[in-house]
Amino acid sequence: MELVNLCKSYHVGDMDVPILKSVDLRVAQGEFVAIMGPSGSGKSTLMNMIGCLDRPNCGQVLVMGKDVNTLSDPELAKLRGMEIGFVFQNFNLVPRLTTLQNVELPTYANKKAGIDARKKAKELVKMVGLEERMNYKPSEMSGGQQQRVAIARALINDPSLILADEPTGNLDSVTGNDIMEIFSDLHRKGRTIVMITHDPELAEYADRVVNIRDGIIVSN
Ligand SMILES: Nc1ncnc2c1ncn2[C@@H]1O[C@H](COP(=O)(O)OP(=O)(O)OP(=O)(O)O)[C@@H](O)[C@H]1O
Ligand SMILES: [Mg+2]
Repeated sequence: MELVNLCKSYHVGDMDVPILKSVDLRVAQGEFVAIMGPSGSGKSTLMNMIGCLDRPNCGQVLVMGKDVNTLSDPELAKLRGMEIGFVFQNFNLVPRLTTLQNVELPTYANKKAGIDARKKAKELVKMVGLEERMNYKPSEMSGGQQQRVAIARALINDPSLILADEPTGNLDSVTGNDIMEIFSDLHRKGRTIVMITHDPELAEYADRVVNIRDGIIVSN
């Protein structure tokens, strides 16, 4: 994944407010990168760019060598669904669905050839230690358990990249460390992970820390 001379501004009223300013960032396959920076510095905006949730105003986003600018919106949605797994601070599970259904959900829109969604979902739920909670709804589970479901869901399409925005931000430190152990384990198995955090202790799990201030990468 690579960002080349990327900029992003938001239109507020009749003003263009620059948020990311000529950002260059390269994440190699198998790397675990932490992104740190003060509140409002542009971390989530950066993650939206890396995750192809939004398009930049200038510069390029390359995912597996493919320039995202050349893709139509449906092509972009497909790339996102197949190649990128998202984990958010507030879990973002669908309240009415069970653990298993939440994990399977991304395969309804995009499914890689040969994936048996139900079987894979069961394996992943087991991997994150929720075998006993397969048929529970999010409201019947703790924050840490819900985040495990979200991690399993992020993995269902075997994405090349996992993006996590403050994945332990709503969890106590013990539960947060359990979640970090899952990320560490995924990293050891060769997954590429980009994680936003403001906690220096959590950033230690990563191979590399990228610091961002006022929309500029200050160390890399
Ligand atoms: N949709 C939007 N429209 C206008 N301005 C926005 C929008 N999204 C973000 N911003 C602005 O962009 C700046 C960066 O926001 P961003 O969410 O990327 O920060 P952050 O580093 O993730 O902060 P935090 O640590 O608090 O999550 C902020 O000043 C914010 O007000
Ligand atoms: Mg943020």
